[in-house]
Amino acid sequence: MPIETTLTVVDRLADDAELTAVPFGADLAPPVELPVPVTALLSHHEAKGEPGEVFEVPVVRGDGVGRVLLYGMGDNTAPALRKAGAAVARKAKGRHSLSVLVPPSDDVSALVEGALLASYTFRIGETRTRAVEEIVFTGADEQAVRRGEVAARATALARDLTNTPADVATPEWLADQARLIAADHGLAVRVWAGEDLGPFGGIRAVGQGSIHPPRFVQLQYTPENAGDGTPHVVLAGKGITFDTGGLSLKPTEGMKTMKSDMAGGAAVMAVMSALTAFDVPVRVTGLIACAENAISGSAQRPSDVITQYGGRTVEVLNTDAEGRLVLADALAYADAELDPDAMIDIATLTGAAKVALGPSIGALYATDESLADSLLRAGEVGGDRFWRMPLVEDYRSDLDSDVADLTNVDRKMSGAAGSVIAALYLREFIGKRPWAHLDIAGPARSTADEGHLTKGATGFGVRMLLSYLAD
Ligand code: BES
Ligand code: MN
Ligand code: ZN
Repeated sequence: MPIETTLTVVDRLADDAELTAVPFGADLAPPVELPVPVTALLSHHEAKGEPGEVFEVPVVRGDGVGRVLLYGMGDNTAPALRKAGAAVARKAKGRHSLSVLVPPSDDVSALVEGALLASYTFRIGETRTRAVEEIVFTGADEQAVRRGEVAARATALARDLTNTPADVATPEWLADQARLIAADHGLAVRVWAGEDLGPFGGIRAVGQGSIHPPRFVQLQYTPENAGDGTPHVVLAGKGITFDTGGLSLKPTEGMKTMKSDMAGGAAVMAVMSALTAFDVPVRVTGLIACAENAISGSAQRPSDVITQYGGRTVEVLNTDAEGRLVLADALAYADAELDPDAMIDIATLTGAAKVALGPSIGALYATDESLADSLLRAGEVGGDRFWRMPLVEDYRSDLDSDVADLTNVDRKMSGAAGSVIAALYLREFIGKRPWAHLDIAGPARSTADEGHLTKGATGFGVRMLLSYLAD
């Protein structure tokens, strides 16, 4: 269902292309003949060649009239091309075929990503997708186009998993999807359920109020020619299939988007699905901590004390701070059992991160400078931007409990620096590993069809993590 548009790569523009997109300033050889010079057209439209600008122009086509889309590509960088690709694909809605003449660029894959991601739709029941059926890229390096396609389809997979309503997308369903991904892409997979979840006290506590019991999922990718020196990265995703808040119940307004509370887990699954195609040179283990934070007679209560993986006890003062409870198990498990060189978690963790940075930028916390720098750079390249946030030592004591090793929220319940406090909580479980935490509560969803984004889940983080791992 996600991106139904197909993609081909050819050397030359076809003479009879239904609709042809040509960048401003391109050397226009036949078969494209404009009625007036490009410069005249641009001044007529008051166009500057900025990315996102697209004009339809009638052209001479034998005895008849053909159609050309002139599109701006700005400074020809990845962000500009991503925007240009999206604008062109949106203009081609409802058409059978679009031919895109690609400008010379090192970032062709960004153009492809933009075009495909703007063509994403999610509907249940009668589909009314009007995305262009086929895009033909001309004059582009085939490998670059295919890389863009893999990244876009992985992002679309994350959107699909996240957009699927929680009555379908239960922890069991997510684990089944992980098994399918493993089978399709040659990954090892292990799923913990029931009794096996014994040591995972956070996942059990969060899931105990739901009729859909929790799961813990592990996907493993090993590159060809892996040896003892091959680095190992662990990705851990928050997989809360629905977050009612638990007994610390959310109001409806805050609850109705909470089927997206597994966007981090979906991002991890999507990244895992693309590693083979990207020929990623490092070992990667994906962990997805899946539970439904439901409300019922069996739900955990504010003041219950739980035991996280590894034995640390936690006084749960707010059942709505559940993401950190499931992620702490995943991080402690990875530290104890997987011997990773770096651990990265990704989660729709706090409303505070959304308030601080809004819908365009994710919050990044890290204990390791070079890991932080690499991730920030990968974010600029991949198109998922992050901003580094501080792990403020002064606030750590706010997590001290009177009755257990830790509380799960600021015990003064001031609500201040909620995203920082959540990060400090997770840091308790990383041992001595280099670690980064990505809070994507803001950018995980979009409220509009805009550029490469579509309403609902965005798949934010997938392309950043892929470009980090591929380098
Ligand atoms: N899933 C939410 C965070 C969230 C909020 C994501 C809005 C996306 C949009 C998380 O589980 C949560 O409820 N966090 C609480 C923490 C608080 C109880 C300390 C929050 O942010 O209010
Ligand atoms: Mn919550
Ligand atoms: Zn949550």
